[in-house]
Parts: sequence; structure tokens; C-alpha cells
Amino acid sequence: MSFDLVLFGGTGDLAWRKLMPALFQAFRHGSLPAGGRIIGVARDPLSDEQYRELIRSRFDEVEGSKRPGAGEFERFAQLLHFLRMDLSQPADYQRLGELLRQRGADVVVMYLATAPSLFACTVEQLAAAGLNTPNTRLVLEKPLGHDLQSNRAINETVRRVLQERQIFRIDHYLGKPSVQNLFALRFGNALFEPLWRRETIANIQISIAEDLGVEKRGAFYDSTGALRDMVQNHALQLLCALAMEPPINAHADAIRDEKLKVLRSMKAWTPQALSQHVVRGQYGPGTVHGESVPAYTEEPGVRPDSTTETFVALRAEIANWRWAGVPFYIRTGKRLAGRDARIVVSFRPAPHAIYRSPGNGANRLVIHLQPKDGLELHLLAQAQDGKQAGRVQQQLTPVHLDLDFDKRFGSERVGAYERLLLDVIEGRLNLFVRADEQEEAWRWVEPILEHWRNEAEGPRPYAAGTWGPSASSAMIARDGNCWLEEC
Ligand code: BG6
Repeated sequence: MSFDLVLFGGTGDLAWRKLMPALFQAFRHGSLPAGGRIIGVARDPLSDEQYRELIRSRFDEVEGSKRPGAGEFERFAQLLHFLRMDLSQPADYQRLGELLRQRGADVVVMYLATAPSLFACTVEQLAAAGLNTPNTRLVLEKPLGHDLQSNRAINETVRRVLQERQIFRIDHYLGKPSVQNLFALRFGNALFEPLWRRETIANIQISIAEDLGVEKRGAFYDSTGALRDMVQNHALQLLCALAMEPPINAHADAIRDEKLKVLRSMKAWTPQALSQHVVRGQYGPGTVHGESVPAYTEEPGVRPDSTTETFVALRAEIANWRWAGVPFYIRTGKRLAGRDARIVVSFRPAPHAIYRSPGNGANRLVIHLQPKDGLELHLLAQAQDGKQAGRVQQQLTPVHLDLDFDKRFGSERVGAYERLLLDVIEGRLNLFVRADEQEEAWRWVEPILEHWRNEAEGPRPYAAGTWGPSASSAMIARDGNCWLEEC
């Protein structure tokens, strides 16, 4: 099968950081269908050769086994082409059309890795140039829109010119191997299903901590913030994977129907919940891994008086029979103490205690998403060591069953973007987000945005290199719970 992949934003940050390395890995693994072209599109005046050189220079920064070996990049580079385009100019789309028609590939992927504000006009121009053919697939990066209204506007524009089966709304968290294993844990194993409900589970934490700041994306991030950047999409998709009912099969719509039901069941915000169950923060100067780092407002591209949040912690509930009353805590932030994404499922204590032991929260399932990829089951056991011999054995000791997927399956597994790009080329929609899911997620976060707009108090400051503002710990402590690193 031949393909053309047109990468709008071909010299941008996402192309640099994620897409080119992923395409290279797919090429190296031999999974990229032969006979493809990758056409970078941007305003820069570059020839194919200059574009290849630009991408090659990027690979010089890649370390370890992901770096191309001798001759490897040159072979990959044969796939790379460049087209200079001004996305507001219809004539430039005609030129793109000519380039695509020269080849007549079986599949044409249009990947919009540009600012979301350009999505609608780019899609309209593609259609005006007749580039919305039945073999076109459109990939839209998140965040899709800025709020519910702009999200709907983009979806409506896109659906006027393409069918839903041609639209791939990407959320790269769904492509992570660790998230695949979350689905496998729940729907490939019968063991946990009887326990996966309010009667047995006390609460669930979803924590996505980053140690990086906003890097070179200050201007984008400053108009976006953590709620739109991480919660509306990645965190809520994880919540769906945790809370959804088992789908009837593995087809895209069966999975997406179940995720949609979760989003529709999210408990509506009340004024009281908004003020007590949502914490926003912004990092000040601090030390991360021993290095001094500046405050968010001193980052390039960020307004010095910015009130954009770089941290969010919240408590959500799902109003349905399986989950009523179970808190789902979500936390994400930049410049935190470490890079660590994990889910912690805390089970209720034994109903009747015959041991003197730490009861509450003793049984936990920790799902490590990154950098570690694995599962830990926290149990209680009797140490039975010599010191205790002869005493009444009433004390239990916490122990872990530890499953490390990197050790088990090797750390060279298919990365998120590699997998998702191959899915697009091969037309698999399972791991992409449907328009109605996305709209429902926006509907749920909108009252938070509205609340913040009307709130005099801005985000709470936290020192870079910590776990966020103390209000985040206070919020969860009101329920008698704690973030895992504090327990
Ligand atoms: C992106 C966000 O979607 O996800 C970034 O825009 C964030 O701000 C990134 O850094 C995190 O992805 P990962 O895969 O590094 O956890």
C-alpha cells in the first residue's frame, strides 16, 4: 500500500520532538509500508535537501539506540520531501494537489501539527482544492479548539468535508504501551473485574507529573494552560479507560461508545465543588533535579503578568451505579519534582480487622505509565522474621507484587506516536477520539474555566521542583486521602 503523509507544521516543535523520531522508528522496524512519502509543509523556503538536512541535524541530538546508525538516516531521508506553503493561500493548496496527483498514493494522510486556530481554514482550503477525496485521512492534534464552542466549530467544518471514519483526533496517551496494558488488564483478564466497582474501590488517583517547564512553547502554553493541555484530553481519556464498562468488542465505535458514557456520567460541577475540589497553580522559581530554574512568568513567550495555570488538581465523581461516591483525583503539572505518570487504585480495607495493621489504603494497584511501565500490587503479609519469632503475629507488613513491562517485553517497544501514525496509515480508529467524546470532555471542563475567569484569586504559586501547591494536598486530605508520594 502506498501512502503520502503531508505534515503541516513540518518544521514545528511536534514534528521535531515526536513525529519524525516516530516515523524513523517505524521505518527502522520495517513497519512503515514501503513506497511512502513524508511531505513536510511549512512557510520556510526550503528545498527537499535542506529539509532532510534540517531533520538530520535533529537526529544528532538523539541519544542511545534511537539514534540512526550509519547510512540509516540516508535511507529514511529518501522518504522526506518539502513543500513551502502559506496556509492562507489557495494557490499553495493547488501546488500541493499537483504534488499528490503525481503519485496517486492509495492513502493520503493530512496531519495538522499546527496551531489549532489554523485547523478550520486549512481543512476548508483542502476541500476547496479538491483534496478531500475518499482516500484522504485527516489527523488533528489536540487541543482541538479552546472551548466547547470552538471545538464544535472545528468538528462541524471537518465533518462538512470528510466522513467521521476519515478523521483521526489524536490523543497520544492512548497510544502509549502502558495505556494499552491498562485496557488489557481490564478487558483481557477476568481477575479484577469483580473488584472494579464502588463496593471495593475507595478512590482512584490519576497523576501526570512533568519535571520539564514549557520549553520552547511558552506562547502556545500561555494561551492554553494545564486544564486544556492535559486534563481535557489525556487525563480524561485515562479516566475513561479506568471507568468504562467492558466494550462488546474491540471495534472503534464499541470502545468509543463506552468512553462517551463515562464522560456523560461525570458529576456536574456545583459552585461549592468548583471552589473546594479544583486547585490551580503556577510555578515560581525553584530547583529541579539540583538545577535552578526560572519562574513560569520568566519563560520565553510567557506574559510577565500571566495567570495561566501550570498545575491542576481536582476531585471528580462519576454518577453511575458502578462508581457513585468514589472520588477520582486528577493531578497534572509542569516543573514538578519528577517525571512520573501513574494511576493508583486504592481498595477499601478489610471489613473486619483481626490483625493490627495499617488498614486504610493497604491494598493498592499502582499502574505506572511512565517513565516506568508496569504494575504493582500492594498487599499485606507477615514478615515472620527472627525478631518477631515467638510474638503474637498481629503485625502485617506492606509488600509489593511488581511487574515491570520494560523488563518483561524489552524497552524497545513501539512508542505512542509510532503506533498511532501506523494506525492512521492503516485506517484503524480504535485509539482515536470521536467528536462526541471530545465535546463531552469540553462540556465538563468549561465550568472550571468559567469559574477561574470570575475568580479574583489567580493560580496558587508553587516552587518548581515540588509536588505543586499545598492546597492540592489539602484538597485530597479533606477526604482522609493523600497523593501517593505523601502516604
Ligand atoms: C502534550 C502536551 O500533549 O503532552 C505537553 O501538550 C506535554 O505539554 C505532553 O508535555 C506530555 O506528553 P508525554 O508523552 O511526554 O507525557
